[in-house]
Amino acid sequence: MTKLVLVPVDGSAHARQAIEFAVDWARNHDAKLHLLHVPDLPSASELAFVDRYSIDVSKTTQRLEMIGQDIVAEAMDMVRAKDFTAVEGSVSIGNPAQQITDKAKDLKADLIVMGSRGMGDFKSLLVGSVSHKVMQHAPCTCVVVR
Ligand SMILES: Nc1ncnc2c1ncn2[C@@H]1O[C@H](COP(=O)(O)OP(=O)(O)OP(=O)(O)O)[C@@H](O)[C@H]1O
Ligand SMILES: [Mg+2]
Repeated sequence: MTKLVLVPVDGSAHARQAIEFAVDWARNHDAKLHLLHVPDLPSASELAFVDRYSIDVSKTTQRLEMIGQDIVAEAMDMVRAKDFTAVEGSVSIGNPAQQITDKAKDLKADLIVMGSRGMGDFKSLLVGSVSHKVMQHAPCTCVVVR
């Protein structure tokens, strides 16, 4: 049966490295790819200020979703440029680690391939907080590329 590899992408160079690895793996294992971006919503404490600054949360969410679609589209282009066409993509809004884990369960993914780091600039940890949490809760094997 065709295998499914979930590749969470955040537009970072690390995620691009993960895509490279995932395409090679998929080619060798008769697998297809699913690229996922998860726009992170403002935290509850940030949302407490929404009224004070007249922020329209639904518009903010819409914009985050549009940016997310662009991040996925760029990643899809990168995969297709490597002559690999068995690829789909999606955007799920919410907590990144939670959404990635849920998507892996929904799709019955055989493998998750992600970068060790991402767009965050707090570099004191070995891996970023998203890859750390996904490794802990993933329902399948998880490869962290570095
Ligand atoms: N919002 C996201 N949507 C989809 N995938 C993501 C997202 N954020 C991170 N990833 C995936 O996780 C990998 C590691 O990123 P992570 O966010 O854990 O590191 P970081 O940005 O350096 O650290 P932190 O976010 O904790 O400051 C990325 O290369 C990418 O594969
Ligand atoms: Mg990050």
